[in-house]
Parts: sequence; C-alpha cells; structure tokens
Amino acid sequence: MTSPTTHIAFFGATGGCTNACLVHTLNAGLHATALARTPTKLVDMLHAQGITQDVIDAQLTIFKGDISDIHAIKDTLTNHDAGTTGAVTLASQIISGIGGTPQMQMSLRRPVTIDNPEICATATTNIIKALQEIYKAQPSTALHKPSITVISTTGVSDVKEDVPFAFRILYHVVLADPHKDKKEMERLVTENTGNGGAFRGAVIIRPSLLMGDQSVKEGQGWEKLRVGREDEPAVGYTVHRADVGQWIFEQVVKTGGEARFGQRITLTN
Ligand SMILES: NC(=O)c1ccc[n+]([C@@H]2O[C@H](COP(=O)([O-])OP(=O)(O)OC[C@H]3O[C@@H](n4cnc5c(N)ncnc54)[C@H](OP(=O)(O)O)[C@@H]3O)[C@@H](O)[C@H]2O)c1
Repeated sequence: MTSPTTHIAFFGATGGCTNACLVHTLNAGLHATALARTPTKLVDMLHAQGITQDVIDAQLTIFKGDISDIHAIKDTLTNHDAGTTGAVTLASQIISGIGGTPQMQMSLRRPVTIDNPEICATATTNIIKALQEIYKAQPSTALHKPSITVISTTGVSDVKEDVPFAFRILYHVVLADPHKDKKEMERLVTENTGNGGAFRGAVIIRPSLLMGDQSVKEGQGWEKLRVGREDEPAVGYTVHRADVGQWIFEQVVKTGGEARFGQRITLTN
C-alpha cells in the first residue's frame, strides 16, 4: 500500500476510467491531486459517486489548468503538505487518462479524428518536461521519482494482434489518427522510464472498446475482466470504464504497481 505521506497525481480525472480510479483511491483513504480544466465538473462527478465534500477537502487537491500548462502540472505533481522544512516531495504515482473528443470529418478513409489529434503525446511530453524541471530545481526529488500509468488502447501493438476480427477495420482504419497518438504516448512513456528517465516505472493499459461511464456501481467488478499482456493479449470486444478504473486502482494504485512495471496490459470483458 502507498505510504500515507505521498499522493497520487491524476490527469484526465473527469474521464470515465480515471474518475472511477480516483473514486476508489479516495474511498481507500489515500491522498490525491488532480489537474482539471473545469474543477467544478470534477467535484460534481465525485459527489455523484458518493464522495463527500469532507473527503474531498481532506484528501484531494484540485488544480485548475490545461495539460499545456507546465506550471499547473508541476503543482499537481508536487506535495503541498511538505511541512515546515520546505522540502518538496513528489507524487508517488501518476495516473493519466487524458484523451481527446472524437469528431467526424469528410473523409472516407479517415471518417473519425479527434479534436486534438496529439493530445496524449502532448500530455506525456509536458508531464516529462514538468518532472525534469522539478528534478533540476530540487535534485533530491529525483531520488523518489513517480511511476506513471497511462490509458492507451488495443489495436496499437507491433507484437500481436489484440483486436477481434470484426473490429479490425474500425481500429486500424477508422481510428488510425487517435491510435497514432496513443502509440507515440506509449513510446514516450517507455523511453522515459528507468535510468535517467522521468519515471520510476511505467504501466500501459490497453482497454478494448470502452462502454458505460465512471459510475463504480455500474461496473461488473475488476476481477471479472480478462487480462492479457502484449505477447499474450486478452482479445475481446468491450470493457466498462468503471471496471478499467477499478482494475488500475486494485493492481497499481493500491499495490504501488511494481509487479506491473514494463507491462502493456490488455483489459476486456
Ligand atoms: N473510446 C474508447 O472506446 C477507447 C478505447 C480505448 C482507449 N480509449 C482511451 O482511454 C482514455 C480514457 O478514456 P475515457 O473515456 O475514460 O476518458 P475521456 O472521456 O476520453 O476523458 C478524457 C479526459 O482528458 C481530459 N482532457 C482532454 N483534453 C485535455 C486538456 N487539453 N487538458 C487537460 N485535460 C484534458 C478531459 O477533460 P475535460 O473533462 O476537461 O474534457 C477528460 O478528463 C482516453 O485516452 C481514450 O482515448 C478510449
């Protein structure tokens, strides 16, 4: 279990999977920070999931900002309760479910794009930049680098096909733009982990087609998911957002995630 003196930093917590993960994190009594473009949206989502304002006040610090705002990212990554010593400590884990909004376009080959086709790569680049700036300004922080867990997708593996036959045109043709971005995010995370990198460890989550929303009461439960790895993926059609969030909580947030470092994990029903 993560030490109570550290916190988990969330990016994209108004998204379904990440919001569910944050709900479980707060219910477990852990401390968290979150970057949100619209903090009231995040607070309303948490209230709707039964998280009281007292819990939010005691355990969660929300920073308003866009993922392009390096200063806001640094705030989200930094422990603000470092006490009177003035020492800066960092989040022990980063959970990012940042993603764009799908948009239709006039193209037969690529009918679906997203409002910001490089949002995942940009978010990862900026989190790395923020961490490197913190390490440079306060070298002691580099002794306790955070891990990162990112939500990618199936359909981006160079090793083994992880998309069911009936979905392959959807995944490899229609969704080519967002998947190019996810692939770049995975590359950035992998290349910046370990010696000299920004992250202590990295976990890449590849859910199949996401269904449902963040409501933790609506999921089937994380233990019912089929779980695969890149060389032996679990191939399936859909998975509930709330279950993906709960799986990340149970297998990464709660445990520290070390057993999953370096893995690209497929999650499906
Ligand atoms: N749809 C699928 O079937 C599918 C399948 C596999 C993987 N995925 C990927 O899985 C991830 C999680 O998906 P989800 O449906 O749970 O969440 P989502 O609805 O895609 O949520 C995206 C999150 O990113 C945030 N965001 C977007 N642009 C931002 C910016 N410029 N600055 C700060 N925050 C920004 C959004 O905040 P706002 O609330 O402010 O917009 C929201 O919190 C996404 O990356 C998604 O693409 C999707």
